[in-house]
Amino acid sequence: MYNIAVIPGDGIGQEVVEATITVLDKLPIDFNYTYAQAGDKCNEEQGVPLPEETIKIAKDADAVLFGAAGETAADVIVRLRRELNTFVNLRPVKSMQPEKYGNIDFMIVRENTEDLYIGDEEETPEGAIARKKITKAASEKISEYAFKYAKDTGRNKVTAVHKANVLKLSDGLFKKTFYEVAEKYPDIETNDFYVDATAMYLITNPLDFEVIVTTNLYGDILSDEGAGLVGGLGMIPSANIGDENGLFEPVHGSAPDIAGQGIADPVATILSACMMLDYLGESSYARKIEEIIIEVIQEGTNVTPDLGGTASTQEMAEYIASK
Ligand code: NAI
Ligand code: MG
Repeated sequence: MYNIAVIPGDGIGQEVVEATITVLDKLPIDFNYTYAQAGDKCNEEQGVPLPEETIKIAKDADAVLFGAAGETAADVIVRLRRELNTFVNLRPVKSMQPEKYGNIDFMIVRENTEDLYIGDEEETPEGAIARKKITKAASEKISEYAFKYAKDTGRNKVTAVHKANVLKLSDGLFKKTFYEVAEKYPDIETNDFYVDATAMYLITNPLDFEVIVTTNLYGDILSDEGAGLVGGLGMIPSANIGDENGLFEPVHGSAPDIAGQGIADPVATILSACMMLDYLGESSYARKIEEIIIEVIQEGTNVTPDLGGTASTQEMAEYIASK
């Protein structure tokens, strides 16, 4: 039996998490779910966006399934990642419709603990200053993770993304550390690009990428761009992994523009649950669910509007579960 902390959060977070539980419930695995509050609604009701109780439930669980927060996202998900010490954020950009989007398949390995996301901002007489933190230790750890990931999954190339020409000390350290770690992996090809050029190459040459390792903010931005390459934010899952905890969440947010309509694509969250199954050592079920999702998208009838169908979030999940 696995103890899963479930934090649906705000907006479509509620809808896509419910849909994902519908699929998980079909597996011959015993899950014990503990629901916990976080997000804008929680903030209105309890006066805090991320109660201590929720942090404790998340820490005590075997894994955490998270939906999305709204405007409080920085105080919820960014804080949770820090509290759980999940130093890596894995964001696979993989096309589930190769005939439509090509065989795009690369992994973004995003550093998850520092950069501008430390939220160290200060007002100054002229405006404001935000500090960006890059350490040797975190750069080493994330680079190691990326190379090991490449090796374990049969990928041949790791690309570092930074802006070391402008941010010479911080991004410069990240780049230098990346190449130091690379020396331990002579069989894996390496290169590096500036983040602005990468934003273009992802569109012009997406098949050239296998594993991207980057700092926190660039990883956030490039993963939404990656989503745009393969059908939108409804398609991209993520895994936050540390030495002791794993938190699984779609890349998207609470989508207030479609929340409450029951039309959110549940695929990103179901695929996040697949990453959770991998983390729990239940990979055979993860692969099976992925296969079924591809099949369902190909059939094209029981899918949400972003995938060209008319099914609701819950109807699509129930169809996947029925298979
Ligand atoms: P968003 O990811 O919520 O939505 C961006 C666009 O993608 C919208 O047009 C939305 O309708 C669409 N979209 C997202 N998920 C979808 C799905 N599953 N199916 C179909 N369409 C989908 O990002 P946005 O609009 O920038 O932010 C909305 C709120 O979410 C903000 O309050 C923001 O702070 C929060 N947010 C929270 C995150 C988290 O909790 N991890 C991550 C990103 C944003
Ligand atoms: Mg984001």
